[in-house]
Amino acid sequence: MTIHAHSQSHPSLDPRALRDAFGAFPSGVVAVAASVKGQLTGIAASSFTSVSIDPPLVSFSIATTSSTWPLLRAADRLGLSVLADHHDAVCRQLAGPREERFAGLPFKVTGNGAVLLDEAVATYDCSVHEEVVAGDHVIVLLEVHEVGAGDGEHPLVFHRSAFAKLHRDDLDPARLDGRINGAEVDRGAESESKEDAA
Ligand SMILES: Cc1cc2nc3c(=O)[nH]c(=O)nc-3n(C[C@H](O)[C@H](O)[C@H](O)COP(=O)(O)O)c2cc1C
Repeated sequence: MTIHAHSQSHPSLDPRALRDAFGAFPSGVVAVAASVKGQLTGIAASSFTSVSIDPPLVSFSIATTSSTWPLLRAADRLGLSVLADHHDAVCRQLAGPREERFAGLPFKVTGNGAVLLDEAVATYDCSVHEEVVAGDHVIVLLEVHEVGAGDGEHPLVFHRSAFAKLHRDDLDPARLDGRINGAEVDRGAESESKEDAA
């Protein structure tokens, strides 16, 4: 596959408007963390995305100016923890001064050095697969070695630079099952959704 790099600047594109447009897209937040040479190291990242089932890959983007990524990328394994909706203060802490990021946080360190937060909604034990420079960020592709269900229930949502919770009232309760192209998802039958959920 050929990837074309565009390095043109776009003087007509207002950076504020671009930030606002990016912020309109809601996301979850993950803690990306590891014990590197005995030092707890990590950040909060809202750019997490699932990428591939086979091989199992996920990604997040990190600013090229990050002072933490050069340390974190040296870890054998990175722990990713999907933050729960009571983790708003935890999220701020993980994005704050480096030496205070893990103060008072309940977490465990796996045998491989991945740091996983307690009460996360899901956890991933990953290693760096590939890094792709993309403008002022690096897209980090991670290979997933293990996943955990986590003991948190509802995810933290990040939207328009603020935290939010999920509200499911009045929404179609049917579950999409991943086959979202074409008729298969249009089953409509609630009974089938229940089977899937079982
Ligand atoms: C909700 C939230 C989401 C964030 N998402 C990202 C992200 O996806 N990528 C990133 O590089 N920084 C992100 N940050 C900033 C980092 O958590 C952290 O503050 C930053 O990397 C600190 O700089 P350092 O890497 O030099 O330590 C986010 C911060 C918050 C509060």
